[in-house]
Formats: sequence, C-alpha cells, structure tokens
Amino acid sequence: MKVLILDTAEAAIDRSATILLDVVRRKPASVLGLATGGTMLPLYDRVVSRHAAEGVSFAGVTTFNLDEYIGLGPDHIGSYHHYMRKALFDRIDIDIRLTHLPRGDAPDPTAEAEAYERRIEAAGGIDLQLLGIGRNGHIGFNEPTSSLASRTRIKTLTDDTRQANRAYFDSLADTPRFAITMGVGTILATRACLLLATGAAKAPAVARMIEGPVSAACPATALQLHRQVTVVLDRAAAAELSLRDYYEHIHPNGAESDFG
Ligand code: PGA
Repeated sequence: MKVLILDTAEAAIDRSATILLDVVRRKPASVLGLATGGTMLPLYDRVVSRHAAEGVSFAGVTTFNLDEYIGLGPDHIGSYHHYMRKALFDRIDIDIRLTHLPRGDAPDPTAEAEAYERRIEAAGGIDLQLLGIGRNGHIGFNEPTSSLASRTRIKTLTDDTRQANRAYFDSLADTPRFAITMGVGTILATRACLLLATGAAKAPAVARMIEGPVSAACPATALQLHRQVTVVLDRAAAAELSLRDYYEHIHPNGAESDFG
C-alpha cells in the first residue's frame, strides 16, 4: 500500500483529485469506480473545479458506483443516484448513459446485483476505484464479516452505519436497512484503488486497515491483498498509525517516491 499523509484535509482532497484527474488524462475512456458519503463531497467539488480549469474531459469516461440503498428509486433525495447527479454528474461533461449505479428499486435486487457485476465485466473492469472507509472498517457497504471473496450482492447495514447515515434521512426509522454493494472481491478485482480518509473519527479504522491483520472483521484490511492501492490521509486520520514516520519518510507531504 502506498500511504500518503498530507497536513490538512484540504491537501488530502487536492492530492486525491490529482490522482483521479491524472487517470482520466492518461486514458480518456477510463472506467472509474465511484464512492459516496461525506468524505467524497469536497473531493467531487475539487474535481469539478479542476477538470474545467485544467481542460480534462469526462466525455469518454464510464463510471460504476459502489452501492445503492435498497428500496429507494433514483429520484429519492437520499439515494446515491441523486447524490451522484448533484455532487458530480450534473457538473461535468460526463455522458450520463455511461454512469452506472445499482438500482435500489429493482423488483429483484439479487438479479440486479448479479447483472451489475456482469456490466462491470462487460465494460472491461475498473481502472481506478475510489473508496471511503467506515468507522467500522467497511468499504462500500461491506460490513464486518463480509466475505473477502464476495461479489455484488445485498447486505444488511449495521446499526453503526445507519446511525452514521441517518443525517441524510428524516429519521433513523427512515434510514434504509439494506443495500446492494460491490463485494470485497469485486473491489479486489479492480486495477487500482484510491482510498481517501479524513478526520480523527476514521483514525482507528485506518490503522486497522493498513497495519492490522487481514480479517473479514475489518473488510478494508482486504486491500492489503491488492497490488495497487493508494491511501490518502490527513494528519488526523493518520494519527493512530504506528509506522507513520516510515510512511512520511517514503512520501514526504504525500510526494511520490523515486520509485513511485
Ligand atoms: P463518510 O462515509 O465519507 O460519510 O464517512 C465513508 C464510508 O462509510 O465508506
């Protein structure tokens, strides 16, 4: 894992935007895996402002989001379809027909999950997967004890995840209980991952992910088995890493090392 520690959340977001924009610059027909959540909002803001300023076009880019809540149609204000349109798709030159999220209102969610996995394969796989991390170590909605070989399927959300997401809904009772999510195995099959974490609340999960034993109890630890993962952190999210000095020695202020 490449661990980049930046002084501030703003710098970590800008560094992440650079990595994402460089992928699209190098391969204008990239397939990007996208994420939602509070951490990604300032990242998408930065991508929107920089893509215009730097002339990076998303017109040829295909996207696949990690997950969607079961029971919510694409126009529901709490859905990730809605989130993605507002945060990114309506603000860049992307072809909306090339954007994909699982349909939370599909009549047969299991069939929808399997079809989603096939759509990713048909697109040639994911070049860069963007990831956040939950306080409980989830990636996507792969909650603790998710199979490390899992593929896109239905997951039951933990109480902790529902509490963290209730701000987007009227009440906890209205916060969805189930989601369709790419599996850990789906994420491991991508060609590269970029995980962004900011703030002290994420520090314990970040330390487990990078330095803990690989275990389904903390699904993010599966990323230790992926060959091409970049983790971008601010100081607060990096605070509990025991080898922090080593990571900063290799990548001072998030810079690339001589060997990449
Ligand atoms: P957050 O979510 O960015 O809203 O903290 C991250 C996640 O749960 O994966």
